[in-house]
Amino acid sequence: MNDVAHPADAETLRQALIAKLRELGAIRTEPVAAAFATVWRHEFVPEVPLEQVYEPENAQVTKRDQDGVALSSISAARIQALMLEQADIRPGMRVLEIGSGGLNAALIAEMVGHDGAVTSIDIDADVIDRAERLLQATGYRRVNVVLADGENGEPNHAPYDRIIVTAGAADLAPAWQNQLAEDGRLVVPLRVQGLTRSIGFEREGRHLIGRDYHTCGFVPMQGTGECRERLLVLHDGEGVQVGLRVDDDRQIDAQRLGAALREPASEAWSGMTLEKGMPYDDLDLWLATSLPTFALLATTRRARDSGLVASWSPMGVAAIIEGDSFAYLTYRATSPERTAFEFGALGHGPDGVKAADRLAEQMRVWNSDLRDIRAVFRAFPLGTPEDQFPEGKVVNRRNFRHVISWPH
Ligand SMILES: C[S@@+](CC[C@H](N)C(=O)[O-])C[C@H]1O[C@@H](n2cnc3c(N)ncnc32)[C@H](O)[C@@H]1O
Repeated sequence: MNDVAHPADAETLRQALIAKLRELGAIRTEPVAAAFATVWRHEFVPEVPLEQVYEPENAQVTKRDQDGVALSSISAARIQALMLEQADIRPGMRVLEIGSGGLNAALIAEMVGHDGAVTSIDIDADVIDRAERLLQATGYRRVNVVLADGENGEPNHAPYDRIIVTAGAADLAPAWQNQLAEDGRLVVPLRVQGLTRSIGFEREGRHLIGRDYHTCGFVPMQGTGECRERLLVLHDGEGVQVGLRVDDDRQIDAQRLGAALREPASEAWSGMTLEKGMPYDDLDLWLATSLPTFALLATTRRARDSGLVASWSPMGVAAIIEGDSFAYLTYRATSPERTAFEFGALGHGPDGVKAADRLAEQMRVWNSDLRDIRAVFRAFPLGTPEDQFPEGKVVNRRNFRHVISWPH
């Protein structure tokens, strides 16, 4: 239980959080900073110690399913700030939040002011009850809290100047496009080939275009729009777990890939280097959009420590699957000081060499042509003639065809 009897402590922690979010580039403008300086985070997660509540990366899980998968949470402050910046919310706007918790809706309510309107919907009655109770208790009664499947948006309060989706989506819903004002903006954590990016979409003719995106992670969308990815288990024993996350329905023989994993690996090095600590999210996105058989190799730390794999990542490192073989991203220090790393791939199975070479080749392409280029996301409603598509990777989903391009 946090100690609300100490507002001075909370104020110190809150100011420190805002300073940290500015430093991280998550807060970039004064309206977002002002919202964070007004809403007390700890009032929305009373069960959590104060210090944790004001940590930038702390997402507080409020509900799990029977397998322990998080179904609902109060998002981390850094992600909330990033998405609010992407949304560019102004006083007087009408905003729809899909996925409630109370805290983010309060931040939005501060940004739109008394002339604006906030509607927050959730598919889970427990979440709605909690959000409603906390919003009432904290003085944000003006937020409309509605129990509904976000796939349908919320037609009663449409159109919206901004729609912010706060559950991981594999696709957009037609209702979001229909309920968005003509010059509106839709911010949504969209999963493409297993990688989730919070994308700020706007209208461009009859489709939507997103140029502004950030890496993020979210609890999965439930309801009509639910579309989970698959986890193919290659190895599971005594904490040593290795799996491949696959975001489409291609046929894969996990047993054979598991057998391949236990055979020695072949290496391919790209010559591409990065300084220690530099993010390479866009390299991952390039590999995901340029390699048709992309997947993510997810591992436990013990799998790496045992020597079975060279990379440790529960979310997964870039990989490709080629028949009974696969390869995944790895890197090695270029000097004993370990200040820079060369990227490459390890391949397993009869075509492991070919797979590793293919991965390394696309690393070289990114390094020579794309290091300074940002991807552009476009979402075309089904039925859009393909001659209107720009060059790029096409990901077909239930409602939209997504095209990810690298203009240069
Ligand atoms: C990360 S939480 C929302 C966090 C919240 N915006 C906050 O204040 O930080 C995601 C929520 O999305 C909800 N959700 C999942 N699928 C949904 C759907 N189809 N429609 C509406 N809500 C959904 C979950 O029940 C969960 O409460």
